[in-house]
Formats: sequence, C-alpha cells, structure tokens
Amino acid sequence: MSISNRVDIVSVPLGERSYDILIGAGILQVVGALIEKHDLPKQTVIITDRKVASLYLSVVETSLRRSGCSVFTITIPPGEKEKSLQRAGRVYTQLLRRGISRRSTIIALGGGVVGDLAGFIAATYQRGVSFVQIPTTLLSQVDSSVGGKTGINHHLGKNMIGAFYQPAFVLSDVATLKTLPPRELVCGLGEVVKYGIILDEEFFCFTQRNLARALRSQHTVLRAMVKACCTMKAFVVSRDERESGLRTILNFGHTVGHALEKAGHFHSLKHGEAVLWGMLAETLAAQLLGMIREEDVRRICDLISSVPMPPLPQEAFRSLAAAMRLDKKAVEGKIICILPTRIGGVTPPTAVEESILENVLQQMRHYEL
Ligand SMILES: NC(=O)c1ccc[n+]([C@@H]2O[C@H](COP(=O)([O-])OP(=O)(O)OC[C@H]3O[C@@H](n4cnc5c(N)ncnc54)[C@H](O)[C@@H]3O)[C@@H](O)[C@H]2O)c1
Repeated sequence: MSISNRVDIVSVPLGERSYDILIGAGILQVVGALIEKHDLPKQTVIITDRKVASLYLSVVETSLRRSGCSVFTITIPPGEKEKSLQRAGRVYTQLLRRGISRRSTIIALGGGVVGDLAGFIAATYQRGVSFVQIPTTLLSQVDSSVGGKTGINHHLGKNMIGAFYQPAFVLSDVATLKTLPPRELVCGLGEVVKYGIILDEEFFCFTQRNLARALRSQHTVLRAMVKACCTMKAFVVSRDERESGLRTILNFGHTVGHALEKAGHFHSLKHGEAVLWGMLAETLAAQLLGMIREEDVRRICDLISSVPMPPLPQEAFRSLAAAMRLDKKAVEGKIICILPTRIGGVTPPTAVEESILENVLQQMRHYEL
C-alpha cells in the first residue's frame, strides 16, 4: 500500500519553506522512504531521548538504513533541563567529531524537548542543515513539531534562545501515543483544549464529547485531534510565520503558564499542565475585566476541570509576577496576555494589570479540581 493511502496529510503553506504533516497509526517505518521522496541528504543524525530510544529507535533506524541512509544516533537523557546551552554544546561536539557535514539531515525523534533542541541544532549547525520532526508525545504532535519554533532555555527564562526553522516534513504516528504516561497525555490535551477556545467552538465541543476516550488513548479520537490541531496551527502559521500578529493567539494560557513553570523550577508542573492552569487564570482575568460571558467562562472552566491535573504548587505563587514580567511576551514591564472573549475567539495581545492577575491567582489558590 502506498504511503498516501495510510496517512492524513496537512499542508503548511509557507512558500519555499512549505511542508507536509503526515498523520497515521503505525507509520514510523516509512521515514526512510520519505527522506528519499523529499530528496533530503542521506547522511542522517537522529536526536532522541533514552526513553523514546528504548521504544521506537530501532524501527526508525532500520527504515533509514533500508533506504540507503547512514545513521548516527545521539541519545540524551529525557527532561526539560536538556533544552540547554550545555546540552547543545555537547551535541555540536558529537556532530563535529563524527564529521557530520552540511549535507546532512537531523531527525528529531521524541517529544517537544527533543524537537526544540534538535531543531535549534539543525538551524545552527554549519549555518543550517535539513530537519525532520518525528513527534512522539501528544503535545508535540498537536503543537510543538509544527510551525518552526526551535530553541533552548536560559536560566533566566524559558525558550529565550532560539530560531524559526521549518522542518522538511513532520511524521506523526499516533500509535506511539499508546506508551505515553497518562500525565504526558494530559499535557497534550491542554494544547488540544486551547485550540478549541482560541479558534473553533465546534472543535471545543468535539473535545468535550471525546475527552474520556482521548484519556484512554483511543487511536481514532487522538488521530482526529492531531489532524484538527495541525490544520488550525498550519492556518495560523501560514499567515504569520514569525509571530508578529495572528500567531500570538497561540500563546493563550502561556503568560501565566510559563511563569508557573518557572516558579516551580520546571519540575512541579509540566509545560502542558502549566498551560492548563494558565488558561484557567487568563479566562478568569477576562471574566474580571468583563470581556467574556459568564456562560462561556463556566464551559471553559468545566472542560479544563475535567482534565486530571496536579494541584498548583504553593511555591508557584512566590515570584510569579516577576516571572511574568520577564516573559518574552512582556512589553515595557506590562504583563501581556491573550484573553478569551468567547469560545472560539480571543483578544490580540492585551496588557493586563498585575493586580488583576494577582486577584485571579488568589482565587485559584482555593480552586478545587
Ligand atoms: N516549539 C514549539 O512551538 C513548542 C510548543 C509547545 C511546547 N514546546 C516545548 O515542548 C516541550 C514539552 O514537550 P513534551 O510535553 O512533548 O515533553 P517531553 O519532550 O519532555 O516528553 C515528555 C516525556 O515523555 C517521554 N516520551 C516521549 N514520547 C513518548 C512515548 N511515545 N511513549 C512514552 N514516553 C514518551 C519523554 O521521554 C519524556 O520523558 C517544552 O520544552 C515546551 O517548551 C514547544
């Protein structure tokens, strides 16, 4: 059977940087054929983490070798702290020692951490080499593998160093999600919920109806969610690749979310969980500012509350305002948020007084999920 019979294809139209996202179940073994089809350099480097390597590396390596590729694999420990300058430095050293040339293809096999780091390496190694994303978490399939944002963290802020760098293609195999720990599935569902709130009420309702099935890792539901989210992200990114306008709406929940992640030193809350709390906070802020109907606030809060997530760590409340002001989205000390105005619609970046967010965070201290 040909590849196209087994996959859904979402195109990201970006002129000469256009590419396809291929979505299916049990399709990892087509990666070699896709490298050939796209005429990418056959000197390949897989960057992955130890956990993903133990599950999916051999099928990817075998597929590449079958298509005549040379394969060099770099395996890093799992975890957000690997998105660092130190780790990037070590990877550059491995590439140089191995004699990896400018005519090579870097393949990210893993979640958003691997994707962001490998993408940053691909964008900068010898001024840029070909890049392929094989996302294996729900969060990376619905969000981080699409749109070309790559980067690493600095100890003063998350994703502070990076580049826009588009992949040649994205291969999303939803069958890999069956091994995902439940907490990681929840992180991805945070981003899924986000797309419904910011862009599409119908998809919001689909997510409401299918949340329990998604939490049981039901393939068909997850595949539909990945396809819908990629379609929405492709729409947004193709109109505003470098986040100077429309793309900022994807940051809904992220101003408070990033600050919560940082205040918890990146281990109390995972990115997707922090975004869920962030969306709740920013919805309550919109309510305090009278921007959204009570009925919509209730529906948003109900959906977020039905996603199982850990409580807000008390340490998260310390230094939260300072963390929000340091966020990339802060402008002249004002805290900039995307606020929902209805289900399926949000404001452009809006300056929110610190006192409003403090008020919301006090409400959330007592929020029972
Ligand atoms: N570039 C973007 O546009 C963008 C967007 C959103 C988030 N991000 C970034 O993504 C990162 C978070 O990504 P993430 O949530 O995918 O986390 P992650 O990459 O840390 O993966 C989570 C965990 O799941 C494991 N894992 C991955 N795939 C698995 C599988 N199929 N089965 C079992 N275990 C598996 C990993 O080893 C890891 O332990 C953050 O750094 C965030 O900043 C980037």
